[in-house]
Amino acid sequence: MVKKKTKKTRKPVKSSTWRSGKKGKPVLELKNVSKIYTMGEYKVAALDDVCIEILEGDFVAVIGPSGSGKSTLLHLMGALDRPTKGKILLDGKDIGKLDDAQLAKVRGKKIGFVFQFFQLVPSLTAQENVALPMWFQDVSYGDSIEKAKTLLESVGLAHRFDHLPNQMSGGEQQRVAIARALANDPSIILADEPTGNLDTESGAGVIETLKKLHKLGKTVIIVTHDTAVAGIPDKHISLMDGRVIGGYCPV
Ligand SMILES: Nc1ncnc2c1ncn2[C@@H]1O[C@H](COP(=O)(O)OP(=O)(O)OP(=O)(O)O)[C@@H](O)[C@H]1O
Ligand SMILES: [Mg+2]
Repeated sequence: MVKKKTKKTRKPVKSSTWRSGKKGKPVLELKNVSKIYTMGEYKVAALDDVCIEILEGDFVAVIGPSGSGKSTLLHLMGALDRPTKGKILLDGKDIGKLDDAQLAKVRGKKIGFVFQFFQLVPSLTAQENVALPMWFQDVSYGDSIEKAKTLLESVGLAHRFDHLPNQMSGGEQQRVAIARALANDPSIILADEPTGNLDTESGAGVIETLKKLHKLGKTVIIVTHDTAVAGIPDKHISLMDGRVIGGYCPV
């Protein structure tokens, strides 16, 4: 006798989900996260019910058209902003429960940011720019400058310690920004269009540096428009209108 198949009715899934393909320790978890900007009567859902799980050591590219929510996602992942709805866990801890001062402390220790326009302090030298985040974590001036020099050496800038940002090329400034992102030994590096303002050769140098950090065990997440850059990380999150529409995650 042929057994009649019963059609299972599933509840429609509203949230859009991306999970890292292998097993490992989750370092960043977004659970049903939305970010709604209200402008008068008008509301923009920059992120709309998104679930994402990033594992320790992941190397991920976030891609999608302009306005799809990439920067919003990165800012939320890095605790630079708070979601309108949903939960964000950093190393398993709900960062929504922290006050602003606690959040700044956690962010300063665990996360390093790299931005498209470098955002270096123009009046500080390369070594002082790199030392700056350590001053907020109670590291002494002398120790912070020593460590800044080591970090600048590691990104190939031993010859630029005393240069001001306007005395360096774009690629060099971005490598100073990467050294600064490493100041407090964060486990997670978040980079928003890190090559967006660089020529191809300088951009390749920046990507090489980020690749090296991934090989050293850091979790690296890069937002990019550049298809060549997007092809370098082994995982991709693809966004559209504030939702995850796909991506690639090798198992
Ligand atoms: N502070 C804000 N106030 C109001 N709307 C905002 C704000 N920030 C972002 N948005 C809106 O949220 C949506 C997502 O913006 P987001 O900056 O995350 O996009 P993006 O994918 O990074 O775009 P791009 O590739 O151009 O950098 C856009 O429609 C944008 O206009
Ligand atoms: Mg953006």
